[in-house]
Order: sequence, then structure tokens, then C-alpha cells
Amino acid sequence: MINRETIDKIMDTARIEEVVGDFVHLKKRGTSLIGNCPFHGEKTPSFHVSVTKGIYKCFGCGKGGDSVRFIMEHEKYSYPEALKFLANKYNIEVEETVESVQDVEAQNARESLYIVSQFAANYFEDQMWNSQEGKTIGLSYFKERGFREDILKKFNLGYSPDVWDALTQDAVKNKHAEEFLEKTGLAIRNDKGKLYDRFRGRVMFPIHNFTGRVIGFGGRTLKTDKNVPKYVNSPESEIYHKSNVLYGLFHAKKAIRDQDNCYLVEGYADVLSVHQANIENVVASSGTSLTIEQIRLIGRFTQNVTILYDGDAAGIKASLRGLDMILEEGLNVKVVSFPAGDDPDSYMHKVGAGAFKTYIEDNRKDFILYKANILLAEAGNDPIKRAGIIRDIVESIAKIPDNIKASVFIRECSSLLQIEERVLLSELNTMRAAKLKKASAPQGRQQYQQHPDMPPADFLADDYEPIVEIPTSDEDKEQEMEILRLLIAYGHELVYWDETDNMYIGSFIMQNLTDVVFKSGLLDRIIKHYWDSIEKGSLPTINTFIHNEDKDVANVSINVTTSPYELSPNWENRHNIYVRHESGHLKKTILDGIYYLKKKKIGEIKKKVVNELKTETDPVNIDIILNKCILIKRVEMSIASYLGNVILE
Ligand code: GTP
Ligand code: MN
Repeated sequence: MINRETIDKIMDTARIEEVVGDFVHLKKRGTSLIGNCPFHGEKTPSFHVSVTKGIYKCFGCGKGGDSVRFIMEHEKYSYPEALKFLANKYNIEVEETVESVQDVEAQNARESLYIVSQFAANYFEDQMWNSQEGKTIGLSYFKERGFREDILKKFNLGYSPDVWDALTQDAVKNKHAEEFLEKTGLAIRNDKGKLYDRFRGRVMFPIHNFTGRVIGFGGRTLKTDKNVPKYVNSPESEIYHKSNVLYGLFHAKKAIRDQDNCYLVEGYADVLSVHQANIENVVASSGTSLTIEQIRLIGRFTQNVTILYDGDAAGIKASLRGLDMILEEGLNVKVVSFPAGDDPDSYMHKVGAGAFKTYIEDNRKDFILYKANILLAEAGNDPIKRAGIIRDIVESIAKIPDNIKASVFIRECSSLLQIEERVLLSELNTMRAAKLKKASAPQGRQQYQQHPDMPPADFLADDYEPIVEIPTSDEDKEQEMEILRLLIAYGHELVYWDETDNMYIGSFIMQNLTDVVFKSGLLDRIIKHYWDSIEKGSLPTINTFIHNEDKDVANVSINVTTSPYELSPNWENRHNIYVRHESGHLKKTILDGIYYLKKKKIGEIKKKVVNELKTETDPVNIDIILNKCILIKRVEMSIASYLGNVILE
């Protein structure tokens, strides 16, 4: 493999006009060079070379890229072959590395932790499907529990042999450094300094982060011995922070968006079983009790959470309070409880996938009413207990940030508890006042940094068209491409709101668009890449994109960051959205980009909500929808006041 320094040197040295000039006759026009495109037959030149950007772009056939890409396309070379061609042209010595796996593949230590975790996942999986021990112990365990093979494969389940250091040995043999085995907790060093495996003789559940990389493991014992812990889990590491990971999210996130709902279960096994019932929008908090970070993670994909409880009443009561936290984050909470003694996993295997799905759909209850019912049943006719319940319920309602939604629940509970609405309301107001007082005291809770002018970031989460192509005339797509352009061109630059308050444009945009979802294709990949980098604590620069090894990424990046105006005056009118002389007022450009996109999206959502209203008959839901309408109006107004144009109808 060609090492990083050599690649950088080649990139720094190669001159696009010289590389292309070897094959194409270029003439100067304006700030760029033009010629006849070598990739498609043409008589009038539409092939442009930008010396300052180091890229070429054909406005005829759409091909574009940097020097390496040009050689790859023109000479039909692979990436390393093209690099070597250029190294040869510029007399650069090519250094290739054959050291440890980590040296070659990893650019930093964190990356090495990901690599060794993925290696371990592959190892466990291979053991389960291919080794004698794995098949007879691990695989047959899952089969006895009724799990289908496709589910086992989908979640990359595996088996760790019952050997002192099986994984460690294999990893070291494959040139993985001991340091990283230890840092991920896959191996532990004993007093004598010898490494041994953390997971032995267990079935293995790899834990993925939401971009799909393996970051840790849960290992379940197959023994029934009460002295053996049922699960051994990876410890916290640089890549695995339990409090902000949800088991199954990677596999669930698309369905969560599509269904606009997230099922929450307790255990790994429950996630598998619910999937097996063809319900893919399910995650588990896995062991830890639900955290704020996990709730916010869900909130990036949907505003609706449905908890699947196991049927034991004590458990339900204990967890009721924890659920208030979800309300507090503004999400809607529903619950489904199973018959006593069953959890989602056992119930699915008992009744089968179809009946399970029907059960879930028929037994959803709103959390607050569900809670009220449970507590009421428990209190019986004891007036003191009943008074306690009222406080308890109103306390939950007070957690709901949205006034209108809260008042709907007050009305519902008033009839359920047979208490006058105004009594409940005054109780609610007292609690709210107390909460407000507490909140105004300085508090350490970390919040996403949002620009004060921004409409609420969590509002727009809703389905919309995925974009996979460069926009042509569709205006909506252009708003999204504009965001992409800003991200790529300016993401790593700082924007100053005032002298003291600055922020990287990339983080700013991403945080203000957590609600806008790029569902599939290229943009999704780029956005994911962006989140990935932010997660790792760095922001990608424009070069990461336009010199990207992934051709499509490079191409779209060049497309959105190349001002056709600069290259060809004819393009000005057609694509005038790109033609902004923006270096002077970047702040405005960024806010414009975000606002115009949100304006588009809110329009789409409004249409959808209005339609919902037409068909809804349940008065509670109508109230909630009306409340949504009010919120939409509010967001529209705040957008309008920024953009200074009238969008109200
Ligand atoms: P099954 O018993 O195979 O159905 O497992 P499960 O995944 O359904 O687990 P269960 O419902 O018993 O527990 C819920 C979750 O709590 C598990 O998925 C684990 O994340 C966690 N957990 C359970 N037992 C232990 C344990 O002994 N140690 C640790 N660290 N975590 C555990
Ligand atoms: Mn279970």
C-alpha cells in the first residue's frame, strides 16, 4: 500500500493543467482552461480545467475530478496505478508500507480500535458458522431459541470459543497490536503480564454505532449456573460510550424514519425477535437504564417512542418514572405490555411473527393514560392514595414541553380520574412554575448549540424524497445541494456570530439540520461521513471530498463547489443559485442555506399534516394535529421573519 506521505506529495506536486495537458489541448479562457473533452466526442469545447482548484470538469458529459481521477479515467488505471503513474511523471519516490495491519490501515489510534473490533466480530462470526465448537454450541443455541439464520447473519452474531486466548492469538497472528486489543477490552492482561480473552465460551452480539461500525460486544453465557454472569459486555473505550449507544440502531434507523416510530425493548434478544417478526424499527438500551443521550439519539430519527414492556408488573412500575425523561425531551411515548411472564422475545416465539405484529399494533396505549390506569387500579378507593396518584400523573404531564399537548392530556386525565380539569390545571401550573424557577438557576446540562434565530431543530423530522442525483430543475433538491455545497466548501471554516461566539460551519450546519434526513444514496453517504468525522472530533476539509477515492463523492463535490459562472458565463442564469459572491458574507449564506431548506421542508410537512387532519377522526389525535399546525405556523413565521418574505397563506 502506498503510504499517506507519498500520496500527499503526489497530490501537492501534480499540476492539473500539466496532467491533463499531456492528453488534451487546452486553451485559456477567462480564469480557466478549456478544451475538447477526451471522454465524449465534441466539436465545441465544454471541458474545463481549474488550475486553482486542481480539478477538471466537463459540462458536456459531466465527468470531473482531480489529477488522479483524470489518469484513472483516461488510462483505465486503478487508484494505486494512477498514483504511481503520477509519481513517475514527477519523479516522486513511492514508499509502500508492509508493517502491522494498523500502520497500514489506520490513520490514528481510534481507527485502530475500530479495525480490531471489526476483526473480532469477523472472528466470532467465522467461529460460529465454521468451527466445530461454534456450530454445535453457539449456532445450535440460537437455533434452539428459534432464531432464523438470516437474522443471525444480519446482526453478525458469533461465538467465542471456550479457550483462554483464542481471539488474542489469532489477532496477534494477523498483526493486530496488543495495545488495541487491550484498549477495546477484547483482551485483558493478567498479573503475569499475559493477555487473555475477555469473552470465552459465549455467544457474541457485536454492538454497532449508528454508522454501522463495530464498537463493542455483549457476550451471553450458555450456562444456566447462577454464579456465572449472564452477560459480559465490552468496557467503555475510546470508541464505545455506553450512554450514547443504542443496540440495533444501525439496522433500525431507516425503518424508524419510515415508520416515524421507534420501538424500545430491554435486551439484545428482544431486538432480534422483533426483527424476526419483520418489525425493523426497534432498539434496546442494552443493560444500562435509558439515558438522555440515547433519547436524543432516537429524537434525531423520530418523535415517537413505543416501549415494549415485559409483562411483570413490578418491572413496569419501577420503570415508569424513567419514562418521564422521554416526555421531557418532547417525544411522544406509547407502551405495549405483554401478558404476565412474557417479554417481547418469548412472546414472539410463542405466538409467531404475524400474531406478534398484530398484538403490538392492537395494544399500543398512550403512556400517560396507561400509567394513570395502572396507578388507579392499584390505589383502589383509598382517597389518600388517589391524591398521590394525581400528583404523580400531573408531574408526568408537566414534563411535556408542549403546552397544547399537555392540555390534551389534562383533559383526558380529568375524565379518567374524575377530577375537574381546572384542579388538574392549577396543579400543573404550580409544578411548571416550580420547574421554571429551577431551570433558571445555572445548570450543567449539555445542549446542542443552536443559533438563537433558528427554528426548532427537531421539528422537521419527517419523510421526504431522497436525493441521489445532481439537481436539474427541481427546486427542493437544489436547496439540499446548496447545504451540501456549504458543508463541503466551508465546513471546516469558522463562522463568527460575534467576537466571542464562533463555531465551525460544519458542526453548525449539521446540528441545525439534525431533523433533515438524507435518506439514501450519495448525499446520505457524505452526510454520514461528515457525522463520522465529527464523532471522531475532526471536520473533513474540501480536499477530503474533491480528492475522495470514491468517485461519486468526488464528482458531486466538484459539481456543487464549482461555480459554473466562474467557468462558463452561460451557466449563470440557469444555475443562478450557485452564483453567490459569498466570501464577504458567509454568515448570511449559511443561514440562507439552512432557512431556504427548512422553508421547503416545512411546506412539505404542512401539506402532509393538513391531509392527516382531513382523515383523522379521533378527537385526541385531532388536538395533537392542530397543535402541530400551530407549531408549523410558528416555524413558518420565524422563517419568514428571517427571509423577509411572505409565506403565510
Ligand atoms: P436472554 O436471556 O437471552 O433473552 O437475554 P436478553 O438479551 O433478553 O437479556 P435480559 O432481558 O435478561 O436483560 C436485558 C439486557 O440487560 C441484556 O440484553 C443485557 O444488555 C443486560 N444484561 C442482562 N444480564 C446482564 C448481566 O449479567 N451483566 C450485564 N453487564 N448486563 C446484563
Ligand atoms: Mn430476554
